[in-house]
Amino acid sequence: MTDFSSDLTADTTEPTEWWRTAVIYQIYPRSFADANGDGTGDLRGVTSRLDHLRDLGVDAIWLSPFYVSPMADAGYDVADYRDVDPQFGTLDDADALIAEAHRHDIRVIVDLVPNHTSDEHAWFRAAVVSPPGSPERGRYLFRDGRGESGELPPNSWRSVFGGSAWTRIEEADGSPGQWYLHLFDSRQPDLDWTNPEVREEFHDILRFWLDRGVDGFRVDVAHGLVKAVGLPEWDHGQELLEGATAGGERPPMWDQDGVHEIYRGWRKVLDTYEDRMLVAEAWVEPAERLARYVRDDEMHQAFNFAFLTSGWRAGALREAIAGSIEANDSVGAPSTWVLSNHDVVRHPSRLSVAPDGGLVNGIGSDDPQPDEEIGLRRARAATMLMLALPGSTYLYQGEELGLPEHTTLPDEVRQDPAWFRHHGEVAGRDGCRVPLPWQAGAPANGFSTTGRSWLPQPDSYTRYAADAQAGIEGSTLELYRAALRIRRERRTAACTLAWAEGYDDSVVAFNLPEARVLVVTNLGSEPVRLPEHAAPLLSSEPLDEHGNVPADVTVWCSVPGAS
Ligand code: NOJ
Repeated sequence: MTDFSSDLTADTTEPTEWWRTAVIYQIYPRSFADANGDGTGDLRGVTSRLDHLRDLGVDAIWLSPFYVSPMADAGYDVADYRDVDPQFGTLDDADALIAEAHRHDIRVIVDLVPNHTSDEHAWFRAAVVSPPGSPERGRYLFRDGRGESGELPPNSWRSVFGGSAWTRIEEADGSPGQWYLHLFDSRQPDLDWTNPEVREEFHDILRFWLDRGVDGFRVDVAHGLVKAVGLPEWDHGQELLEGATAGGERPPMWDQDGVHEIYRGWRKVLDTYEDRMLVAEAWVEPAERLARYVRDDEMHQAFNFAFLTSGWRAGALREAIAGSIEANDSVGAPSTWVLSNHDVVRHPSRLSVAPDGGLVNGIGSDDPQPDEEIGLRRARAATMLMLALPGSTYLYQGEELGLPEHTTLPDEVRQDPAWFRHHGEVAGRDGCRVPLPWQAGAPANGFSTTGRSWLPQPDSYTRYAADAQAGIEGSTLELYRAALRIRRERRTAACTLAWAEGYDDSVVAFNLPEARVLVVTNLGSEPVRLPEHAAPLLSSEPLDEHGNVPADVTVWCSVPGAS
C-alpha cells in the first residue's frame, strides 16, 4: 500500500441524505465479539468494539438478526421480533448499543425478516394446533396435499436450502394433515402477505424499532414476500440464493409485482420519522427490475449482487457498474456496492479460485483450495475499486482484516441448514461466519474472554488479527482506513463516474471529475502505464519501479481539473 494523500484537506460535511454515500459495515453478531465468554458473540461485544469501527471510518452498522430465535438458520428464523435472544443479550443491551453507536457517530441498521418466521413463533405454534381454514392458519401458506390422501406436496417448489419447499404437519388429532410452504428451511414457514393482519404486524414491528432509535432496516428476501396467485408449478431447481430469473422466466415465488405495494406502505411508516432508510436484499435481475425496489416511494437502496458475482473479470465488472448506475439513476436512487457478506465465500478466497464469480455455496476441504496470496492481492484491489465507486458501500465484518474463508472446517462443527438439507453436498456458509480475530495469539485470538468460539478459527487468523495490523504500514486494515479517509475527504462517493479512455480491455479505469480522482484497476497480466499528470494517492500494492500499475492492483490518483 502506498499512501501519498497527506496533503488533502478534510471535508467531512455530511450530505443531507446520509445513506446515499454511506459506508455500511455488516456485523454478524454471533461472530463479531463475545463479551460474556460463552463462545457466541453478543451485543455487549459489539458495543465494546465500536472504537474499532469509528477508527475504521464507517458511517453505519447493519446488524444481522439478534432477535429471539431457535437458531435453525442463525437467527433468520425469528420467534419474537420485539425481543433480543438471550444468547445475544437483552433489550437493554440493544438500547445501549444504539445509544453508544450514535455517540460514536455511527448509525444503526437492523435486519428485518418478513418472508418467514420461525416455527417457534407464537403465530405458527397457534397455526399447527388450529384447524384447516382457521384464521391462525391464514397467516401462513397452508395447503392440502395432492394424491389420494394428500400424501404429495401441493406443488413442485423446491427449498433454497435443498429438498421440497413443503412440509406436512400432523393435525391436532394425530392424523396426517396439511402442508405449509417454506422457501428456506422447514423451520422457517413463509407468511401469507395477502393477509392484512400480517401487513399490520410488520408496520408495528417497524415502529417498535424506529421508536428505539434505529436508523433503518435491511430487508431479508425482499423479493420473496408475494407469491404468484394459485402457486403455479415451478419445476426448475432452486439454487442457494439464486437470482430471480431462470431461462428468462420469472419464478412464481420471486419478484412478483405485488411486493412493491408492501414497500410503499413501509416507506410511509419510515417517512413519519427523520432520516431513516430501507435496503432490500433482493436477488433480482436485470438491473432495471431491481431498480423498481428503489423508486422514490419505496426503499432507499438495494444490494447490488450483480457486482458481487462479477468475479475478477474486467468486462463483467464494467458491465455491472454501468448497468447499475444507469438503472439506479433512472429512478433517482444511489447505487450500492458489496463484495462479501454472511452468505457468500469471503472475497479474498472467492476471487482467487473463481474468476467467474461463482462460489456462493461455500468451499469445503474436498474442493480446490484458494491461493491465499493471489486472493488477498485481488481482494485488496477489488475493495479499492469498490470503495471508489459513487454511491453507498457495504463491508462485511473482517474484510478490513483481509480475512480468508475457513475452507477446511470439520463437518461436525457445521451449522448451516443448507449443508444439512443438501446432505453435505455443498459446504454452505459457515466458512464465512467464523469468529473474528482481534488479538493475535490470545485465546480464540481475542474473540472471547475464555477462548471459546462457536466455530473454530483457522490457524492463519492469528496473522490477520486486528492488533497485528493496526499501525502497520501496508496492512489490509491500514489500507481500508486510508481508503475510507480519502473517500470521505474527497467526497468521491458523491461524484459522477466517467470511464477513462485509452486503456486495455483488461483494465477498469474511470474518473471522478468532481473529486479530481482517476481510478485504475489492472485485471490483466501486464503493467499499466498511468498518465503523466496522474499523481498516485493510494494503491492496493506498491506500484512498480517505473510507477506503473502491476497486475491485480488498483490505484487512486489525483489528477488536475476544475474542482
Ligand atoms: C437471506 C439471508 O441473508 C440468509 O442468511 C438467510 O438464510 C435467508 N435470507 C433466509 O432468511
